[in-house]
Amino acid sequence: MPKITITGPTERTIEAPVGTSLLRALQDASQPISTSCGGVATCALCRVTVTQGREHLTALVDTEINHLGTIAKIVGLRLACQAKLTGTGDVRVEVPEVEDVAARKAAKAARMRQRR
Ligand code: FES
Repeated sequence: MPKITITGPTERTIEAPVGTSLLRALQDASQPISTSCGGVATCALCRVTVTQGREHLTALVDTEINHLGTIAKIVGLRLACQAKLTGTGDVRVEVPEVEDVAARKAAKAARMRQRR
């Protein structure tokens, strides 16, 4: 089974079957990752950076280029919901920290109250 190494402060390696999207693999491993569309490539919140093993994932699709820009191919950006494991090779991914939207909204509301 292919291995996915999630880099960052708490680096760890998980396994997922061939054909699994990075989003599904990360969610199955309880790795926090942003999403609001549930994996249908409309929110672009699931972006990750593949630092090794891009050749072991399905090719970038037009939807990803539309969301991430043409630079995606150069720097390894992918929508985790669209990138699927294609073989037994391993990949390394950087997963951005999940933003606490409720906390951000609460902080903004507090700032607005102070201005009044
Ligand atoms: S989960 Fe929404 S674009 Fe990937």
